[in-house]
Amino acid sequence: MKIIIAENYDQMSKKAADIFANQLKEKEDSTLGLATGSTPTGMYKHLIEMYKNGEISFKSAKTFNLDEYMGLPENHEQSYSFFMNENLFDHVDINKENINIPKSNVSETEINTEVERYNHLLDNSEIDIQVLGIGRNGHIGFNEPGDAFTKNATVAELTEDTIKANSRFFDNIEDVPQKAITMGIKQIMMAKKIILLANGKSKSEIIKATITGKITPFVPASVLQLHKDVTIILDKEAAELL
Ligand code: GLP
Repeated sequence: MKIIIAENYDQMSKKAADIFANQLKEKEDSTLGLATGSTPTGMYKHLIEMYKNGEISFKSAKTFNLDEYMGLPENHEQSYSFFMNENLFDHVDINKENINIPKSNVSETEINTEVERYNHLLDNSEIDIQVLGIGRNGHIGFNEPGDAFTKNATVAELTEDTIKANSRFFDNIEDVPQKAITMGIKQIMMAKKIILLANGKSKSEIIKATITGKITPFVPASVLQLHKDVTIILDKEAAELL
């Protein structure tokens, strides 16, 4: 694991954007694994800036998002597809046909078909670089702590802690979806290169457990210790217990 401790959130975001930009410069038709949440928004801002300056293009890139809430209309402002349009896709030259995100507006009975569809797409692709945030409980994507590491995309039941943490984006805690579709841990681990970002004090405990603790599905991100090419980029606060 390569650990980079940045001065602050903006520096963390810039370093992550530089790694993504280099990937696109080296291989225009890269497959990018993308994440949502507040953590990567700064990185997306820098990437948009680099695109506008003519440094990079997304024209030939393909993307896969880690996860999506279940039961929200696609244009709901908390759906991850809305988030991605707002924070990246609407501002760069990506071909919308190359964007892959699980559908959020599927009913209970359609969920498994949607999971299969996403697994099929992932089975036929190879992610060159995957960016990850981390939940306070160590989840990556929506792979919550549990008895075993997940393999392929699945339906995740969100834990109380995650629902509480994500309720800050919704009017009421009752509005937070209780289920999501998430890429599985095995699929995340198959990405050629992984970057995990974390900022702020609230992530310091879980960052310590992820990097220095034992590898356990009760801290899903700890599995990254086994990956050959992981870079963890932190701000000073998230790194304070290392
Ligand atoms: C969400 C997402 C994760 C994200 C995490 C942290 O639940 N499913 O992909 O990494 O929570 O979010 P934030 O970056 O807002 O702290």
